Amino acid sequence: MYRSKIRAASKSAILEAARFLAEGKLVGVPTETVYGLAADATNPIAVGNIFAAKGRPANNPLIVHVDSAESALRWVCLGPSKEMAEKWRLACEFWPGPLTVVVPRAPGVIDQVTAGSPTVAVRVPSHPVMRSLLQNCDFPIAAPSANRSNYVSPTNANHVQEGLGDKVAMILDGGECQCGLESTIIRLAADGVELLRPGSISLEQLESKFGSVSVVKGVSKSKALDTSDRAPMPAPGMLAKHYSPSTPLRTAGNWDPAQIPPSRVARLTFFPLPDSQSKCFRWYRSLSQTGDLDEVAQNLFTALRQADLTECEWIVIDQCDRSGVGRAIMDRIDRAASDPAS
Ligand code: TXA
Ligand code: MG
Repeated sequence: MYRSKIRAASKSAILEAARFLAEGKLVGVPTETVYGLAADATNPIAVGNIFAAKGRPANNPLIVHVDSAESALRWVCLGPSKEMAEKWRLACEFWPGPLTVVVPRAPGVIDQVTAGSPTVAVRVPSHPVMRSLLQNCDFPIAAPSANRSNYVSPTNANHVQEGLGDKVAMILDGGECQCGLESTIIRLAADGVELLRPGSISLEQLESKFGSVSVVKGVSKSKALDTSDRAPMPAPGMLAKHYSPSTPLRTAGNWDPAQIPPSRVARLTFFPLPDSQSKCFRWYRSLSQTGDLDEVAQNLFTALRQADLTECEWIVIDQCDRSGVGRAIMDRIDRAASDPAS
């Protein structure tokens, strides 16, 4: 029988969620980026259940969420290098916020979280519900995005219920996610900073803080689809094929209306189309009224899910410049796309 696990995030619901986590259960939690599938990061069985619930390969490590940069220090091992300490200090200036930082791990971090990697990914989220939850737990929270592996990340509580409602003790409803895309991930090393996954903290913002930042390219699609590999991924978080709706997706520049007529297309734009154009499509939605890319980012995943629920055979979506948040938007679209030669 269908039973909603969604609870409005009152103080008592947050305390109950903290109790569920302490008992080793899984809870759907809001963050400013996307919803997470949370477990006690120090409990190997609970963390194992995250992988089972998502159908996630065991070699893909999880992010550890903590309530402050000071708490994060317990789970990382920065070593004696002054350069590393300085980079950490600069990274902390983005917290609380949508930045995940990969650094060498402390001995107390369990192997299930890092998938055997010598590094750990940590983040201090800014969402008030998640912050309150973290303050009521005496352990850090491991949480990947709360979607089934390879599907689009959830940006509201209903998305979590649809995908994982039967796997969680509760879903804390903290409203629509403000960013709408997963956090920016950087790796810190004494000799440089690498961008592993673009997000709403842009490459330009990172470069103004750290100086030059190198961009790590995604691994090939064939490698990404090979889940037989037991070793940690070369650059986890950089799978080429990811975040895909079930309906094949093309970017507007790679769409040929002679091949795929508009009558079979769910069309997503970044700016409203005139009625004369939009009415040709089987289904149509604009992600922003003004072409504002922050708004496009916030609405992207919900729109992909909605388009996926239509009868349309293809989704065709706009493109934008890869600057600012546009880099993260195009990264997610590239990963979802079945564009020729992509
Ligand atoms: O916004 C977010 O980051 C959300 C919220 C819930 O915090 N979480 C999220 O988690 O997107 P997930 O697991 O869907 O994506 C995290 C990515 C994974 O692709 C993983 O490979 C990468 O972070 N990652 C985790 N630990 C890593 C490590 N030690 N080194 C490199 N990449 C790592
Ligand atoms: Mg994910």
